[in-house]
Amino acid sequence: MRLILLGPPGAGKGTQAKFLVDSYGIPQLSTGDMLREAVAAGTEVGRKAKAVMDAGKLVSDDIMNAIIDERIGKEDCARGFILDGFPRTLEQADALGDMLQRRGSGLDHVVCLEVDDDALVERISGRYTCANCGEGYHDSFKKPASEGVCDRCGSTEFKRRKDDNPETLKTRLFAYYKDTAPLIGYYHAKGLLKRIDGMGDIGDITAAIRKVLDS
Ligand code: AP5
Ligand code: MG
Repeated sequence: MRLILLGPPGAGKGTQAKFLVDSYGIPQLSTGDMLREAVAAGTEVGRKAKAVMDAGKLVSDDIMNAIIDERIGKEDCARGFILDGFPRTLEQADALGDMLQRRGSGLDHVVCLEVDDDALVERISGRYTCANCGEGYHDSFKKPASEGVCDRCGSTEFKRRKDDNPETLKTRLFAYYKDTAPLIGYYHAKGLLKRIDGMGDIGDITAAIRKVLDS
């Protein structure tokens, strides 16, 4: 199954992708995570992307298309993948269509998570992750079972993203509505779009997505 998770910053793309990885046995391809790894490793892509990401703007289509073209050609994507954070512009969406056509495949679903702006701000302001395994948490909505200890790996080190501040979030939301939201109409026209109410409980949203994917 080849699936896109679409939605604004903080909509729950990463949260839901993690559950879908377990359910469907296909990898999560998060372009945000890939770029953050490149920044941490100090690669050429990381050096180019750092200032752009810190400002909440979009990294160039050329860089992003090349990253995804290479990644979906890997062995673990043979049975499908979950795209989280890509495509983000109409140009990226066209490029993805070409990449898949070249490989004789195509998309199965585009799931759009719909969340109010106020909730996005709340979710992003409270978000943190395990510094060791990357498991995601939230100050109010998803705390570790034992305070200060990661549920998944037991680490006691956590981190927050540099772009998760109110000022940068404004720029990220602007970029979403200007450049990424047009993809909703684009995929609707292709008959691939499934809208999911992203305002409920995390588990209920996973169930709603699974229902759409399994129907
Ligand atoms: P990226 O990492 O993709 O960030 P984003 O799109 O802004 O999305 P987030 O990761 O912030 O949100 P999410 O939807 O994954 O939410 P999450 O599940 O964590 O991109 C970062 C940057 O990289 C971009 O700004 C850009 O510069 C660059 N970039 C990446 N891809 C690019 C591309 N293709 N082209 C160009 N540039 C690119 O949830 C958020 C919080 O809410 C968590 O704490 C979670 O626990 C909580 N939560 C989740 N669901 C719920 C719920 N239902 N109820 C309550 N809390 C919830
Ligand atoms: Mg994410």
